[in-house]
Amino acid sequence: MDIENIKNHDKYKDIITMCSLDKINFVYNYTLNNFKNIGDIFEIGTFAGAITQSLALASEKFKPNIYTVDKFEWDNDKKKKFPNLSFQIKDDFSNYVINSLSHFENIKIFKSNFVDLKPNNQIELMFIDAPKRMKYVIQLIRIFSNYWIENNTKLLFEDYNQFLSYELPATLFPIKKNFRFHTNRSDIVVAEFLKNKIDVKDYKLMNIRKWDIQEIKNNWDEIHNIGDNAKYIDKEISIFMHLFDNNFFDEAISYARERKINFENYKIKNKFIKNYLSKIEKI
Ligand SMILES: C[S@@+](CC[C@H](N)C(=O)[O-])C[C@H]1O[C@@H](n2cnc3c(N)ncnc32)[C@H](O)[C@@H]1O
Repeated sequence: MDIENIKNHDKYKDIITMCSLDKINFVYNYTLNNFKNIGDIFEIGTFAGAITQSLALASEKFKPNIYTVDKFEWDNDKKKKFPNLSFQIKDDFSNYVINSLSHFENIKIFKSNFVDLKPNNQIELMFIDAPKRMKYVIQLIRIFSNYWIENNTKLLFEDYNQFLSYELPATLFPIKKNFRFHTNRSDIVVAEFLKNKIDVKDYKLMNIRKWDIQEIKNNWDEIHNIGDNAKYIDKEISIFMHLFDNNFFDEAISYARERKINFENYKIKNKFIKNYLSKIEKI
């Protein structure tokens, strides 16, 4: 199938973004080819609205409700990535985004933590680029799953394969039967929603902090085989971090030694150094 370039759309506008053009174009093409207008579109983590624009341009013939939510609070990460913008830490930048997207009448922008939202209608398509911590993933399922449409709703996850986001695939593991997963070349993971009853007992299993050593290792063997994960997910570093975060420190360190994990490969992420390597030195 031919891939359309969003930049060729006559209403395309340059909007700053933390996503690559590959990802923006994937969301644009995926929406063009799959959106049927049987529910709303929802985005978590608007930032400046680049993905919001691709959702809106791709669905323009239907003009669905597009809800997008962000806390819109400028922080260090944003300041580092966009030093030319004059916002200061803690500044509210929602007006800047409202202005960038003002030519779309069907986009509704919320300045809020997503956990405080309550959808009004069924949701057909979601783009999820917000926190990947277990607590938030469970909240996401609790809030939104009642609005997903069996065999129709599609969730597009950003950063699902990034090694520091291991909590996202792990937390979704106990409900894997509710989805069909696949990974696009741009690294975005598509979860097609199959059935909408999340078993109450599955919420308990989604508490990945309760997994013991053997469960962590066994479950990651299975997670590795879901969708295209084997190709994209770094299983060994995920197991190391998961053991470590569940306080199995000795086991984590001996696992890293046994698997010859080269920590140098992960040092590009300061968070990895701060949360793991600096703590190992103290153990
Ligand atoms: C990586 S950025 C999104 C990038 C965006 N997709 C783009 O096109 O550039 C993640 C955004 O999620 C927002 N965010 C983080 N936690 C949130 C929460 N609990 N509720 C709502 N938004 C949140 C952040 O403020 C940040 O702007």
